[in-house]
Amino acid sequence: MAFVRFVVRECIVEWCIVMRSIVGVALVLLSALPANADTLEARLAPCLACHGEKGQSAIPEVPSLGAQPAFYLTIQLFMFREKLRLVEPMNQMMQGLRDNDLRNMADFIAKLPPPEPAGDPADPARMERARALIEQHRCNFCHNRDYSGEQNVPRLAGQREDYLVKALREYKNNTRRGYDASMADVLYLISDEQILDLAYFLARLR
Ligand code: HEC
Ligand code: HEC
Repeated sequence: MAFVRFVVRECIVEWCIVMRSIVGVALVLLSALPANADTLEARLAPCLACHGEKGQSAIPEVPSLGAQPAFYLTIQLFMFREKLRLVEPMNQMMQGLRDNDLRNMADFIAKLPPPEPAGDPADPARMERARALIEQHRCNFCHNRDYSGEQNVPRLAGQREDYLVKALREYKNNTRRGYDASMADVLYLISDEQILDLAYFLARLR
């Protein structure tokens, strides 16, 4: 009995030592956290709280960012920082970041999975109207046949419908300045009703 008790006590002592070292490691990690807030993941945490951790935004008029071309993202972050594209939260978020930070953030975000398209059954008449407009205005010439984007041209497939409507309206009324003038030119001949059909179509593409 005495032996067993001894062993048990010995184990308890050892367990204590193990626990103490686990707590110790945890404390060391905790105290290292402020320095770690500089890592890319930590910096992106507030961003992805708005834009969606898995590349898909659940917030109205906040765009999904998953699978956007890295170069497009870098340019837009740059434009937010320089206040060439005016959006309150984004202009604020970019203050004090260096070009390299923007590039690293863009590279990370570009690797998030593409957003899932809107799941409700699509209205075939609206989809057909949008398809005809897209042929006419050659949207899929610049944005890629599968609307995945490339270089400075953004991905459109599966983007939030409300954000697409907002973006297209802002190009049309010149409140969103682009890196180049392509979109203002394209929108010149497109009506607001057609913008609604285009956004409806694009949000339902995979
Ligand atoms: C409070 C919510 C919020 C936070 C936090 C936030 N964003 Fe945004 N972001 C937005 C909104 C809203 C827009 C869309 C602006 C518009 O309507 O044109 C946007 C736009 C963008 C775009 C342009 C997307 C496109 O398709 O053109 C990028 C890239 C982006 N944000 C990256 C980031 C990064 C990186 C961070 C963190 C440093 C961040 N965002 C933090 C709300 C947020
Ligand atoms: C000549 C090439 C070209 C054509 C044609 C074109 N686009 Fe674009 N589009 C661009 C470029 C470049 C951008 C990025 C501009 C910027 O920097 O804001 C863009 C941006 C967009 C955006 C903003 C996306 C975002 O994440 O903010 C939408 C929406 C869009 N295009 C839809 C369309 C639709 C719909 C059509 C056809 C009616 C079309 N585009 C035709 C080149 C083109």
